[in-house]
Amino acid sequence: MKRIVQQNFNGVDGLQIVEVTASKLTPLSVLVKNKYIPVLPYDWLTEYGLLKAIRPVKLPMVIGYGFGGIVEQVGMLRDKNLIGKKVIGMQPTGSAQEVINSQLPPLLFTVPDNVALSDAVTLIGGADAALHAINSVNVGPTDTVLVTGASGGVGVYLIQLLKLAGAKVIALASSGNSDFIKAVGADVVLDYTDALDMQLRHINAPNKIIDTVGRIDLLQIIATNYDELAIFSLSLTNFDPPKKQQTFQFSNGSIGISGYKRLLKLMADQQIVAYIQHKYKFTDVKKAHLASKNGHAQGRILLTF
Ligand SMILES: NC(=O)c1ccc[n+]([C@@H]2O[C@H](COP(=O)([O-])OP(=O)(O)OC[C@H]3O[C@@H](n4cnc5c(N)ncnc54)[C@H](OP(=O)(O)O)[C@@H]3O)[C@@H](O)[C@H]2O)c1
Repeated sequence: MKRIVQQNFNGVDGLQIVEVTASKLTPLSVLVKNKYIPVLPYDWLTEYGLLKAIRPVKLPMVIGYGFGGIVEQVGMLRDKNLIGKKVIGMQPTGSAQEVINSQLPPLLFTVPDNVALSDAVTLIGGADAALHAINSVNVGPTDTVLVTGASGGVGVYLIQLLKLAGAKVIALASSGNSDFIKAVGADVVLDYTDALDMQLRHINAPNKIIDTVGRIDLLQIIATNYDELAIFSLSLTNFDPPKKQQTFQFSNGSIGISGYKRLLKLMADQQIVAYIQHKYKFTDVKKAHLASKNGHAQGRILLTF
């Protein structure tokens, strides 16, 4: 079987597709024929050596984290009813391979019949982070939440989950993404590429920020325009808010098994939808990573197997 391996820290040039023998079925194994993996900034940030401080890795390593596929075989300690089922999951040892040997039961979820596998896989590294952020800042109907990175794989779920929580959503995106973000459900859309300071002065003040972008200068511009603000970031570990009544928190925690089940149910009930920007064959991984790194986002890019 083939897998995608990161050999060095030279960006996409360090990626190689290598042929290996499939790993063995153990009593705890679920063998999944992989169909999709989400392309996450986490992948290309690691490739370019930009996460060394917070994610030390040993090379060579298989890239990728989330996957979605069909169960082909199970070990004797796993549920036989899984065979033939659509599943999504996380593979901490790397998901970019044709067959996944998933051995940790809490990291595998059955996808409801009416949910497409490609849609479900966008929940990993997308809606899970969004739900974690929303839980961390306790959002409710009286809140007005400003979201940065609103067009991205996390942002599109932040908008939808915040609207489900009854909050008003102010979303930041580049000019070309304004209509897209409105269609996803944002109440107010601001263009981060054009006189943002001026735009911020003409809207009702947010009381919370959920930041996915991680730019100190951007948070500084936003926060100086308002007094009381609870600022939460998924990407920036430290930030000194400019005003006394403002707080800052970073977290990269998990939503647990119940969180993933809730997200899959919301998708099955069509209360949240997936936005897939583009699907690339896994052999085009370099193109896919460059598109994620250099282009504007409209939801999640996927690799197909
Ligand atoms: N802590 C955690 O648990 C956790 C989990 C998941 C993700 N994250 C982090 O969250 C971040 C976003 O992830 P993602 O998957 O949503 O990324 P993504 O799909 O690549 O989206 C990136 C978003 O950032 C916006 N953006 C890009 N450059 C910008 C700039 N200079 N100023 C303002 N906005 C800019 C983009 O807007 P346009 O496309 O309109 O330019 C887009 O909306 C990543 O840094 C990721 O590592 C953290």
